[in-house]
Amino acid sequence: MDTKLPNMLLSYLQESKRNTRFFLESITRQSNDKFEVYNIEEIKNTIICGDCLEELKKFPSECIDTIMTSPPYWGLRDYGVEGQLGLEKTLDEYLEKLLQITAELKRVLKPTGVMFWNHGDNYSSKTVTNRLFIQEGGRRSNNPLVGKFNLKVPEKCLALQNYRLILKMIDEQGWILRNTIIWHKPNHMPRSVRDRFSNAYESVFMLVKKKKYWFDLDAVRIPAKYDSSGVREYREGNIDNSYKPKEVRKILEEYKGKNPGDVWQIPTQPSPFSESHHATYPEKLCEKPILSSCPQWVCKKCGKARERIVETITVKKKERGSNPSDSRAFGPPQQSGIVSLHETKGWTNCGCNAGWKAGIVLDPFAGSCTTAVVAKKHKRNWIMIEINPKYCEMGRQRLNAIPEPLPLFE
Ligand SMILES: C[S@@+](CC[C@H](N)C(=O)[O-])C[C@H]1O[C@@H](n2cnc3c(N)ncnc32)[C@H](O)[C@@H]1O
Repeated sequence: MDTKLPNMLLSYLQESKRNTRFFLESITRQSNDKFEVYNIEEIKNTIICGDCLEELKKFPSECIDTIMTSPPYWGLRDYGVEGQLGLEKTLDEYLEKLLQITAELKRVLKPTGVMFWNHGDNYSSKTVTNRLFIQEGGRRSNNPLVGKFNLKVPEKCLALQNYRLILKMIDEQGWILRNTIIWHKPNHMPRSVRDRFSNAYESVFMLVKKKKYWFDLDAVRIPAKYDSSGVREYREGNIDNSYKPKEVRKILEEYKGKNPGDVWQIPTQPSPFSESHHATYPEKLCEKPILSSCPQWVCKKCGKARERIVETITVKKKERGSNPSDSRAFGPPQQSGIVSLHETKGWTNCGCNAGWKAGIVLDPFAGSCTTAVVAKKHKRNWIMIEINPKYCEMGRQRLNAIPEPLPLFE
């Protein structure tokens, strides 16, 4: 019997062995007193433990497909480690530091890349006390920086830390803001406030570098429901011409399977390490960003990502003989039974025949590596940067518990 393993299996085993490697210390290879630039293939699927600004400077330009992250918010938490962001004395100082990081993020993002930036807000108060600062484990912080804020926003006013940052990113760095997604938390924390409404959402800003970028809406559409009894089919270009063109367009465009929209209702999820990290976001929050913006197949030679080829079939549930121009037939899909089925017919091919690799998702404030967990589950590559070694270790444990993804087949 031939005991040689097939090439595909061999490369899979080599790949999965590589995937279990994690960097728990930052790589500081030096040559002639200068930092070398990381080889992106070497740091794929690793956790880099270090300060994200310093680490990002070692990344080559335009190597990342998707950034999904949530930075430490200003004045909210003490993550218990030197060099952490969020404890700056003024909002301006915090914004300045974050802007240095977003400039590096823009440099490492591919021109076709997309960044999702989850950033909440807080209220200004003259008497900021350590009540605001929740250290790991839910205890109050003893950090001496706490309480020394020089706030420029009026007392009781929302700091608008997120919008101030995003405005500067647009004006000073040229980012293009495509969506402000509302992450609505149906199980949000009850608050004892009596003179305003309690806060039930956070924002997720979707930003790009160029007008044209890689985006697979079909991967995240809400599928149309339909009952196959008594349906009539219309293919694009072959629509019953008794329908008004406007109505036909509406059918084709609107009912392809619903665009999920920019309000996402996602309950908060208890931290996988309840005693240790309290700012984890739910895995669900990363799903749409990763599925829509990180390609599954990128050419190993030319770097072009494959795009979905889609055919739309419009299916209309309607009794024969009734008047097709009856406007009631074009009501909401659940009433009229008009649906468009969006079928994937294949994927574009650059023709290099060099094989494919998955895109890379980066999280520069990885915490317990929720972003990587979702990327790994969906067979995307990932790179995590986190300053706190304890959180790096938590992330390593979470990621090790997920089976290695099988190789990508067409
Ligand atoms: C909001 S939490 C991210 C949580 C993460 N999304 C998760 O689900 O676990 C922000 C993280 O940024 C880390 N952090 C703070 N300053 C940092 C820095 N300068 N470089 C890298 N990470 C930093 C904190 O330790 C914290 O884990």
